[in-house]
Amino acid sequence: MILLTGGAGYIGLHSAVALIEAGHEVVLFDNFSNSKPEGVRRLVKIVGREVACVEGDVRSASDMAAVFARYSIDAVIHFAGLKAVGESVEQPLRYYDNNVAGTLVLLAAMQQAGVRRIVFSSSATVYGAPDFSPIPESAALRPANTYGRTKLMVEEILRDLHASAPDWSVALLRYFNPVGAHSSGQIGEDPSGIPNNLMPFVAQVAVGRRAELNVFGGDYPTPDGTGVRDYIHVMDLADGHRAAVDRVLGDPRDVLTVNLGTGVGYSVLDLVRAFERACCRPIPYRIALRRPGDVPASWGDPSLAGQQLQWTARRSLDDMCRDSWNWQKQNPDGFA
Ligand code: NAD
Ligand code: UD1
Repeated sequence: MILLTGGAGYIGLHSAVALIEAGHEVVLFDNFSNSKPEGVRRLVKIVGREVACVEGDVRSASDMAAVFARYSIDAVIHFAGLKAVGESVEQPLRYYDNNVAGTLVLLAAMQQAGVRRIVFSSSATVYGAPDFSPIPESAALRPANTYGRTKLMVEEILRDLHASAPDWSVALLRYFNPVGAHSSGQIGEDPSGIPNNLMPFVAQVAVGRRAELNVFGGDYPTPDGTGVRDYIHVMDLADGHRAAVDRVLGDPRDVLTVNLGTGVGYSVLDLVRAFERACCRPIPYRIALRRPGDVPASWGDPSLAGQQLQWTARRSLDDMCRDSWNWQKQNPDGFA
């Protein structure tokens, strides 16, 4: 059985679909600080069977011990964490507590239970402003904000843990920009409040919840002047987790660090045009000031994941926009 901490969140639910469809048993563990039980009910609808789900907090040693005592866990995917960059700068102690201290409690419980296989949700944010793209895993690591530093700290904790106990099998997955939704439109990204990220903002403009998109910067040194990113369909990312779980279950007793991206960069305006094709309506936008902390361009080199996990992203930008739109139009207010 695979334990998914933060399993009721955006990437956790989609990964649960991929894992269950590949024949794995999963148990979701979540404190619902950034997700809703309705998401789990939708997952059950998609897979057509019950899914074990435990409400609890990774920072609680007793919650963690209880889940390892109740289920026979073979491996953990550690999604649980807070992920808003701006908030992390304003509330660093909350972020270090949730993302770093929470991981320490999880790892102690794993050690106690004799579970030594873990897949961790890292982020391309550990690269900070890259010197060049596509970014290889060997690039300099210099996260530019608190959130990014929590991700790098956990990567380092897991490397130190493996150095001290080489029977651990660890996969560190550095995601680029996850977008899109399951093709059913039953689950998708459901940010609370005003979305920080581009795709959910565009989707909310399309559905009429917001009047127009602010494009943060039109004068970057990129082909059309807007920021370039490596958008990856969340179901491709989910399949990457399936591949990473299969690898750690094989007990490689190493630490694999891989980028999960498509290797292709698209601009903000590329994404806006693709979304307009998907929803068949215009997306009003205006060019606004650059967002502090943004980098002009960032996309990943995913070739190591291809070699080590036999995984590659298959879905196009049009697929991502079509599925985001399908989710948004069926659920204009998300899971509410
Ligand atoms: P999400 O917020 O939708 O999911 C995270 C889940 O963890 C939520 O359901 C939340 O309720 C839960 N959670 C948070 N703190 C917890 C705690 N202390 N105990 C138990 N549960 C807790 O986010 P997501 O987009 O699904 O991201 C999953 C992981 O991937 C996160 O670690 C995030 O930092 C990382 N990541 C996300 C992105 C992205 O753009 N979405 C990119 C790179 C990395
Ligand atoms: C952001 C986070 C990063 C995190 C990633 C997850 C910051 C600085 N970085 O990255 O740590 O891992 O999300 O997906 O927050 N944009 C607009 N208008 C908007 C929103 C975004 O023009 O309303 C632009 C941005 O300037 C950027 C692109 O769209 O060029 C993508 O932005 P976003 O979706 O927020 O992702 P990142 O900035 O790459």
